[in-house]
Amino acid sequence: MTLDASAMKKLVAEKAVNTYVKDGMNVGLGTGSTAYFAIKRIGELVAEGYDLTCVATSVQSEQLARECGIRVVDLDEVDKLDVTIDGADEVDPKMQLIKGLGGALLREKIVAAATEREIIIADESKIVEKLGTKAPLPVEVLVFGHQHTRYALERQGCKAELRMRDGAPFVTDGGNYIYDCRFDGIDNPFFLESRIDVIPGVVENGMFLNTAFDVLISRPDGSVTRMAEQLR
Ligand code: A5P
Repeated sequence: MTLDASAMKKLVAEKAVNTYVKDGMNVGLGTGSTAYFAIKRIGELVAEGYDLTCVATSVQSEQLARECGIRVVDLDEVDKLDVTIDGADEVDPKMQLIKGLGGALLREKIVAAATEREIIIADESKIVEKLGTKAPLPVEVLVFGHQHTRYALERQGCKAELRMRDGAPFVTDGGNYIYDCRFDGIDNPFFLESRIDVIPGVVENGMFLNTAFDVLISRPDGSVTRMAEQLR
Protein backbone atom coordinates (compact mmCIF):
# COMPACT_ATOMS: atom_id res chain seq x y z
CA MET A 1 0.00 0.00 0.00
CA THR A 2 1.30 3.45 -0.91
CA LEU A 3 -0.84 6.35 0.21
CA ASP A 4 -0.81 9.70 -1.57
CA ALA A 5 -0.57 12.99 0.34
CA SER A 6 -4.31 13.43 0.71
CA ALA A 7 -4.86 9.85 1.91
CA MET A 8 -2.10 10.29 4.51
CA LYS A 9 -3.80 13.44 5.84
CA LYS A 10 -7.16 11.69 6.08
CA LEU A 11 -5.63 8.66 7.80
CA VAL A 12 -3.84 10.64 10.50
CA ALA A 13 -6.78 13.00 11.05
CA GLU A 14 -9.24 10.15 11.56
CA LYS A 15 -6.83 8.30 13.83
CA ALA A 16 -6.44 11.39 16.01
CA VAL A 17 -10.17 12.01 16.28
CA ASN A 18 -10.92 8.35 17.00
CA THR A 19 -8.21 8.28 19.69
CA TYR A 20 -8.73 11.57 21.48
CA VAL A 21 -12.30 12.83 20.96
CA LYS A 22 -14.85 11.47 23.44
CA ASP A 23 -18.56 12.12 23.81
CA GLY A 24 -19.33 15.27 25.81
CA MET A 25 -16.02 17.01 25.15
CA ASN A 26 -15.21 20.59 24.24
CA VAL A 27 -13.09 20.32 21.10
CA GLY A 28 -10.88 22.81 19.26
CA LEU A 29 -10.96 22.63 15.48
CA GLY A 30 -7.70 23.29 13.62
CA THR A 31 -7.13 24.91 10.26
CA GLY A 32 -5.59 23.58 7.06
CA SER A 33 -5.83 20.66 4.68
CA THR A 34 -5.10 18.03 7.36
CA ALA A 35 -7.41 19.54 9.97
CA TYR A 36 -10.08 19.52 7.25
CA PHE A 37 -10.31 15.73 7.51
CA ALA A 38 -10.47 15.92 11.32
CA ILE A 39 -13.44 18.29 11.12
CA LYS A 40 -15.18 15.95 8.66
CA ARG A 41 -14.65 13.02 11.05
CA ILE A 42 -15.89 15.07 14.02
CA GLY A 43 -18.99 15.84 11.94
CA GLU A 44 -19.55 12.10 11.53
CA LEU A 45 -19.31 11.60 15.30
CA VAL A 46 -21.89 14.36 15.82
CA ALA A 47 -24.17 12.65 13.29
CA GLU A 48 -23.73 9.42 15.30
CA GLY A 49 -25.00 11.26 18.40
CA TYR A 50 -21.86 12.62 20.11
CA ASP A 51 -22.58 15.76 22.11
CA LEU A 52 -19.60 17.98 21.25
CA THR A 53 -19.08 21.71 21.71
CA CYS A 54 -16.46 23.04 19.32
CA VAL A 55 -14.36 26.17 18.90
CA ALA A 56 -12.85 26.98 15.49
CA THR A 57 -9.39 28.42 14.86
CA SER A 58 -10.46 30.23 11.67
CA VAL A 59 -13.48 31.53 9.82
CA GLN A 60 -12.82 28.86 7.19
CA SER A 61 -12.89 26.00 9.72
CA GLU A 62 -15.97 27.43 11.39
CA GLN A 63 -17.79 27.44 8.07
CA LEU A 64 -16.79 23.85 7.32
CA ALA A 65 -17.78 22.74 10.81
CA ARG A 66 -21.23 24.29 10.51
CA GLU A 67 -21.70 22.59 7.13
CA CYS A 68 -20.86 19.32 8.89
CA GLY A 69 -23.55 19.93 11.52
CA ILE A 70 -21.08 20.68 14.32
CA ARG A 71 -22.05 23.11 17.11
CA VAL A 72 -19.50 25.93 17.09
CA VAL A 73 -19.26 28.47 19.90
CA ASP A 74 -16.92 31.35 20.75
CA LEU A 75 -13.88 30.43 22.81
CA ASP A 76 -15.14 32.59 25.68
CA GLU A 77 -18.29 30.49 25.92
CA VAL A 78 -16.29 27.55 27.30
CA ASP A 79 -14.01 27.36 30.37
CA LYS A 80 -11.50 25.20 28.58
CA LEU A 81 -11.13 22.82 25.69
CA ASP A 82 -10.47 19.16 26.39
CA VAL A 83 -8.71 18.53 23.13
CA THR A 84 -7.76 20.42 19.96
CA ILE A 85 -6.75 18.69 16.75
CA ASP A 86 -4.67 20.83 14.42
CA GLY A 87 -2.05 20.55 11.69
CA ALA A 88 1.52 21.85 11.54
CA ASP A 89 4.05 22.97 8.96
CA GLU A 90 7.14 21.61 10.73
CA VAL A 91 7.62 19.20 13.61
CA ASP A 92 11.01 18.62 15.23
CA PRO A 93 12.01 15.49 17.18
CA LYS A 94 10.96 17.10 20.47
CA MET A 95 7.47 17.94 19.14
CA GLN A 96 8.27 21.64 18.78
CA LEU A 97 6.32 23.15 15.91
CA ILE A 98 6.08 25.80 13.25
CA LYS A 99 2.53 26.63 12.29
CA GLY A 100 0.78 29.36 10.37
CA LEU A 101 1.31 28.72 6.67
CA GLY A 102 -2.47 28.53 6.56
CA GLY A 103 -2.65 32.01 8.08
CA ALA A 104 -4.48 31.10 11.28
CA LEU A 105 -1.60 31.04 13.76
CA LEU A 106 -2.97 33.70 16.11
CA ARG A 107 -6.28 32.01 16.83
CA GLU A 108 -4.55 28.64 16.75
CA LYS A 109 -2.21 29.75 19.52
CA ILE A 110 -4.98 31.25 21.64
CA VAL A 111 -7.05 28.08 21.25
CA ALA A 112 -4.02 25.88 22.02
CA ALA A 113 -3.39 27.84 25.22
CA ALA A 114 -6.96 27.12 26.33
CA THR A 115 -6.62 23.41 25.53
CA GLU A 116 -5.65 20.56 27.84
CA ARG A 117 -4.45 18.27 25.05
CA GLU A 118 -3.18 19.84 21.83
CA ILE A 119 -2.97 17.05 19.28
CA ILE A 120 -0.99 17.70 16.11
CA ILE A 121 -1.65 15.75 12.94
CA ALA A 122 0.78 15.63 10.02
CA ASP A 123 2.28 13.40 7.41
CA GLU A 124 5.96 12.55 7.50
CA SER A 125 6.89 15.37 5.09
CA LYS A 126 6.47 17.79 8.02
CA ILE A 127 9.22 16.23 10.13
CA VAL A 128 12.48 18.20 10.35
CA GLU A 129 15.63 17.80 12.42
CA LYS A 130 15.65 21.53 13.14
CA LEU A 131 12.82 24.08 12.92
CA GLY A 132 13.07 26.64 10.14
CA THR A 133 14.85 24.41 7.66
CA LYS A 134 11.93 23.69 5.32
CA ALA A 135 9.20 26.17 6.20
CA PRO A 136 9.49 29.89 6.82
CA LEU A 137 8.44 31.11 10.25
CA PRO A 138 5.17 33.04 9.85
CA VAL A 139 4.93 36.11 12.07
CA GLU A 140 1.64 38.00 12.35
CA VAL A 141 2.12 41.76 12.61
CA LEU A 142 0.00 44.87 12.92
CA VAL A 143 -0.61 46.66 9.63
CA PHE A 144 0.50 49.95 11.21
CA GLY A 145 4.22 50.45 10.60
CA HIS A 146 4.66 46.92 9.29
CA GLN A 147 7.79 47.81 7.27
CA HIS A 148 9.50 48.82 10.48
CA THR A 149 8.40 45.60 12.13
CA ARG A 150 9.92 43.81 9.16
CA TYR A 151 13.30 45.53 9.64
CA ALA A 152 13.29 44.45 13.27
CA LEU A 153 12.44 40.88 12.27
CA GLU A 154 15.26 40.80 9.74
CA ARG A 155 17.70 41.92 12.44
CA GLN A 156 17.03 38.49 13.99
CA GLY A 157 18.80 36.88 11.03
CA CYS A 158 16.05 36.10 8.53
CA LYS A 159 14.70 37.30 5.22
CA ALA A 160 11.16 38.47 5.89
CA GLU A 161 8.65 38.46 3.04
CA LEU A 162 5.19 40.02 3.26
CA ARG A 163 2.64 37.31 2.47
CA MET A 164 0.56 38.22 -0.57
CA ARG A 165 -2.68 36.88 -2.00
CA ASP A 166 -4.14 37.88 -5.38
CA GLY A 167 -1.71 40.76 -5.71
CA ALA A 168 -2.47 42.32 -2.33
CA PRO A 169 -1.18 41.67 1.19
CA PHE A 170 -2.83 38.67 2.81
CA VAL A 171 -5.03 39.81 5.71
CA THR A 172 -5.59 37.42 8.61
CA ASP A 173 -8.88 36.78 10.41
CA GLY A 174 -7.57 39.25 13.00
CA GLY A 175 -7.06 41.98 10.36
CA ASN A 176 -3.25 41.76 10.45
CA TYR A 177 -0.45 41.00 7.97
CA ILE A 178 1.93 38.06 7.97
CA TYR A 179 5.66 38.11 7.29
CA ASP A 180 7.11 34.75 6.29
CA CYS A 181 10.60 34.74 7.82
CA ARG A 182 13.20 32.50 6.18
CA PHE A 183 15.88 31.36 8.59
CA ASP A 184 18.67 29.01 7.73
CA GLY A 185 17.45 26.72 10.51
CA ILE A 186 16.54 27.96 14.01
CA ASP A 187 19.20 26.92 16.51
CA ASN A 188 17.42 28.07 19.65
CA PRO A 189 13.65 28.44 19.17
CA PHE A 190 13.05 29.61 22.76
CA PHE A 191 15.64 32.38 22.49
CA LEU A 192 14.37 33.46 19.07
CA GLU A 193 10.80 33.52 20.34
CA SER A 194 11.82 35.76 23.24
CA ARG A 195 13.49 38.16 20.76
CA ILE A 196 10.59 38.23 18.29
CA ASP A 197 7.83 38.62 20.85
CA VAL A 198 9.24 41.88 22.19
CA ILE A 199 9.35 43.59 18.77
CA PRO A 200 6.70 46.33 18.73
CA GLY A 201 4.15 45.49 16.06
CA VAL A 202 4.50 41.73 16.39
CA VAL A 203 1.18 40.17 17.28
CA GLU A 204 2.22 36.52 17.40
CA ASN A 205 4.86 34.19 15.99
CA GLY A 206 4.32 30.74 14.48
CA MET A 207 6.54 28.74 16.84
CA PHE A 208 4.43 26.52 19.07
CA LEU A 209 6.91 25.48 21.75
CA ASN A 210 6.06 22.92 24.43
CA THR A 211 2.49 23.06 23.18
CA ALA A 212 1.84 19.63 21.67
CA PHE A 213 0.56 16.89 23.97
CA ASP A 214 1.00 14.42 21.13
CA VAL A 215 1.97 14.50 17.45
CA LEU A 216 0.55 11.84 15.14
CA ILE A 217 2.53 11.19 11.97
CA SER A 218 1.25 9.23 8.99
CA ARG A 219 3.42 7.49 6.42
CA PRO A 220 2.84 6.29 2.84
CA ASP A 221 2.80 2.64 4.02
CA GLY A 222 -0.42 3.39 5.96
CA SER A 223 1.18 3.45 9.42
CA VAL A 224 0.60 6.17 12.01
CA THR A 225 3.05 6.79 14.83
CA ARG A 226 2.55 8.76 18.03
CA MET A 227 5.60 10.84 18.84
CA ALA A 228 4.63 11.20 22.52
CA GLU A 229 4.97 7.43 22.93
CA GLN A 230 8.42 7.48 21.36
CA LEU A 231 9.58 10.32 23.61
CA ARG A 232 8.47 8.61 26.81
C1 A5P B 1 -2.80 27.08 9.70
O1 A5P B 1 -2.57 28.38 10.04
C2 A5P B 1 -1.58 26.27 9.95
O2 A5P B 1 -1.03 26.39 11.21
C3 A5P B 1 -1.84 24.83 9.61
O3 A5P B 1 -2.08 24.09 10.74
C4 A5P B 1 -0.69 24.33 8.89
O4 A5P B 1 -0.41 25.24 7.85
C5 A5P B 1 -0.88 22.93 8.35
O5 A5P B 1 -1.68 22.93 7.24
P1 A5P B 1 -1.80 21.67 6.27
O6 A5P B 1 -2.42 20.60 7.07
O7 A5P B 1 -2.68 22.17 5.16
O8 A5P B 1 -0.43 21.34 5.79
